[in-house]
Amino acid sequence: MSGASIGRGCILGQNVFIANDVRIGHNVKVQNNVSLYTGVELEDDVFCGPSCVLRTSVNPRSQVLAITSTSELWSPRATIGANATIVCGATIGRYAFIGAGAVVRGDVPDYALMLGVPARRKGWMSRHGLRLGAPDAAGVMHCPESGWRYQEVEPGVVRCLDLDEDQPIPAL
Ligand SMILES: CC(C)(COP(=O)(O)OP(=O)(O)OC[C@H]1O[C@@H](n2cnc3c(N)ncnc32)[C@H](O)[C@@H]1OP(=O)(O)O)[C@@H](O)C(=O)NCCC(=O)NCCS
Repeated sequence: MSGASIGRGCILGQNVFIANDVRIGHNVKVQNNVSLYTGVELEDDVFCGPSCVLRTSVNPRSQVLAITSTSELWSPRATIGANATIVCGATIGRYAFIGAGAVVRGDVPDYALMLGVPARRKGWMSRHGLRLGAPDAAGVMHCPESGWRYQEVEPGVVRCLDLDEDQPIPAL
């Protein structure tokens, strides 16, 4: 729709609706049957699974227009699983992974793996999309795919020790 912007290299599946003024970054993948309503903003490298729902109104009424239209969603480099629901105003952290069917009601930290209804953090997910194992004696968690190291540098804050969060994963 008018005013929407879509970055380079995006893939949009069937039955994807992009409303007025929605902003989508580069290399975003949106699977089938996803509606991105005004107020949604997806940063680079976001993956939206099929039929996921990004809610932009908490209390919709047909006769009441845009009462919550300031709601926003930022999802930098996150994955949102199939049929997951994100309430309006939630900020999804970088590389966070929302499991299929989860209902996310609040902000999600970087690398968090969120599952269930309502969604709870069930662990940490690597940039390669694998669950990080238990921390070793030094507090370091390893990605089973890449071997990259991650650490909870303060409670609830995970950082990758091998590549800055703002750097893209190098091509294989
Ligand atoms: C979360 C996910 C990545 C699996 O992670 P995993 O570590 O391999 O999980 P496992 O299959 O080993 O299951 C581990 C536990 O998590 C639970 N679990 C896995 N996925 C879950 C989900 N989406 N919601 C709730 N619980 C889930 C399992 O039931 C299991 O529970 P248990 O330990 O009590 O038996 C995957 O299930 C998922 O949701 N991926 C999203 C896929 C998607 O939407 N793709 C879209 C494009 S097709």
